[in-house]
Amino acid sequence: MRIGVLTGGGDCPGLNAVIRAVVRKGISTYGHEFVGFRDGWRGPLEGVTRELGIAQVRGILPRGGTILGSSRTNPFKIDGGVEKIKSNLADLGIDALVAIGGEDTLGVAAKLTDLGVNVVGVPKTIDNDLGATDYTFGFDTAVNIAMEAIDRLHTTAESHHRTLVVEVMGRHAGWIALHAGLAGGANVILLPERQFDVEQVAGYVEKRFQTQYSPIVVVAEGAQPLDGQMVLHNQELDAFGHVRLGGIGQWLAEQLEEKTGKEARTVVLGHIQRGGTPTAFDRVLATRFGLHAIDAVHEGDFGKMVALQGVDIVRVPLAEATRELKTVPVERYTEAEVFFGS
Ligand code: F6P
Repeated sequence: MRIGVLTGGGDCPGLNAVIRAVVRKGISTYGHEFVGFRDGWRGPLEGVTRELGIAQVRGILPRGGTILGSSRTNPFKIDGGVEKIKSNLADLGIDALVAIGGEDTLGVAAKLTDLGVNVVGVPKTIDNDLGATDYTFGFDTAVNIAMEAIDRLHTTAESHHRTLVVEVMGRHAGWIALHAGLAGGANVILLPERQFDVEQVAGYVEKRFQTQYSPIVVVAEGAQPLDGQMVLHNQELDAFGHVRLGGIGQWLAEQLEEKTGKEARTVVLGHIQRGGTPTAFDRVLATRFGLHAIDAVHEGDFGKMVALQGVDIVRVPLAEATRELKTVPVERYTEAEVFFGS
């Protein structure tokens, strides 16, 4: 078989580990041939490819990012996009695709499957918000980066008797905030799943100062205060028409300063959470996903996504995996609340 591989959406640590596993097993075990598509769905849409063999995947296991490049191109939003993809795949002699991506990339994969394209999906996102899989690779690395930042912020916050607000990624789901906050001993954790009361947050901050220690507030970029407490100034579109988030951390720090009379600073971790080498957990998960994805392709089991359930890698229908986002359940948040303000 001649198999195309692409990575779409926001990059994340572990993408190269998947590519390497797919290509290594695909060539050495099954004798397949590979074509790398550039920049997500833009590759098959515009017919932009790169060589992808054993030599090209040597040494990439520990490298962050993706050797194939990525984009948020969606062929269903482009006139004639799907027809173009189908004719390019036919011209290039591609029998099947391995699409590595999040909700958007795999949503496209699900729709293309219905139109007769042979696709197997691999879930990725640092946000860990894809349904049908217990974890996505990239999440563990992002949490560890955020945890290390929080560890460092505790000491500087204490030296200056300041509140430190740490804004982490997570537009719709607060998994990074919850896990990094718990691992880093944050005193308040705020998620997109539940609107927060800024007065209550100020109360937790004051309580923490009474312990002689300084408060660390972890806030997900998509978290919002109760209706009426803030104008939604942080949801603007950038030049590419994407929603630009961020800004909640700065707003919150200003509010906390005003309400508690204590100095506050904001740290926005941003894309640092997506860069650099993956943790061992993410390298292993990404590698296992890659090995199982090429098995599915070899068996002709298309329209599926590989997923982690417990300790096993299973296959689920792409349509099921992209149906709804996996957000933080209320009981996981309640569990963490015991540490708030203490
Ligand atoms: O979905 C992954 C993610 O990292 C989100 O957590 C974040 O909101 C978004 O991507 C940022 O995207 P961009 O790289 O386009 O700014």
